[in-house]
Amino acid sequence: MTLRSVIRGSGSALPARAVSNAEMSTMVDTTDEWIVERTGIRNRYIAGEGETTATLASEAARKALEAAGIEAASIDLIVLGTCSPDQTFPATATIVQNALGCRGGIAFDVAAVCSGFLYAFATADALLRTGAAKRALVIGAETMSRLLDWEDRTTCVLFGDGAGAVVLEAVDVDESDPAAPGVLATRLHADGAHNDLLHVDGGPSTTGTVGKLRMKGREVFRHAVVNLAAVLEETLAAAGLTAADIDWVVPHQANARILDATARKLDLPAEKVVVTVGEHANTSAASVPLAYDTAVRDGRIKPGDLVMFEAMGGGFTWGASLIRV
Ligand code: UT7
Repeated sequence: MTLRSVIRGSGSALPARAVSNAEMSTMVDTTDEWIVERTGIRNRYIAGEGETTATLASEAARKALEAAGIEAASIDLIVLGTCSPDQTFPATATIVQNALGCRGGIAFDVAAVCSGFLYAFATADALLRTGAAKRALVIGAETMSRLLDWEDRTTCVLFGDGAGAVVLEAVDVDESDPAAPGVLATRLHADGAHNDLLHVDGGPSTTGTVGKLRMKGREVFRHAVVNLAAVLEETLAAAGLTAADIDWVVPHQANARILDATARKLDLPAEKVVVTVGEHANTSAASVPLAYDTAVRDGRIKPGDLVMFEAMGGGFTWGASLIRV
């Protein structure tokens, strides 16, 4: 028997206010046609007064606990991926822990931008497999709207706010059984040479301000397709599986064209890719768990399916994880 991390339930949360492309075109010089054609985005949700990364994360976590049928009190690990924390410190994970009323366990944030959920998921998986914790909440949550330059049409139309969460539990499984559930393989990468292509131009130790998001979209796009295709192949190889074995790819939702290009590179049929970018836009660390929860709740992803998570973002950071759900 081997200890594996098994997904017990998922949840997600969105701000109350939806903002259409038509509304965006009243704020900056853009059109619904340009945004849809270049990105596939039609809508995004923007946090209002009283809605923060921690409130969205807490709502997503509560729904994940409910779906798992697990009490908050039994959670002994919270790992939260975000680049838009409520405060510079303490970690947003500790705010969520307090909101859920599950004190005393481990709680910390992971900063890997759009790969934040993948990094958080891999960290929680490793801690569960060493026995350091038994039941984890892994959360991706963002209020990207508060990092955007609302006068820069090349970035502000692309992002949105939201949160997604999964409950991961350490379970003894028979590894020789191909149907045994759990995380099968994960691969993470970073390359710090590309800071200038995607970053926030401020921070506590440099400007003493929060800063605004800056991106050279075309270059990021090029790196994303190459890095994602490579890490998907690498993760499949680590698990001894092929693209044909995958039931669902749940990718980071940055741009529908990146999703198409990556799927084509791997010969994956488009019908196996969960696409929510049209409705949610790019929610950074929240996008993978938001998309996963959407596809679980609408019945696409079923118990026993082989699911691939993948993401790429600022750093650059990127990674993938293969899970039998
Ligand atoms: O989540 C982290 C990872 N992030 C990503 O993966 C983002 C990757 N990049 C992208 O998704 C795409 O590169 C973008 C959607 C950001 C941009 O699409 P593009 O096809 O690469 O367009 P572009 O940046 O080359 O711009 C084309 C034109 C430019 O005009 P000129 O110079 O050709 O006259 C832009 O000024 O489109 C113009 N443009 C806009 N026009 C209307 C840029 N933004 C807008 C806009 N509305 N919002």
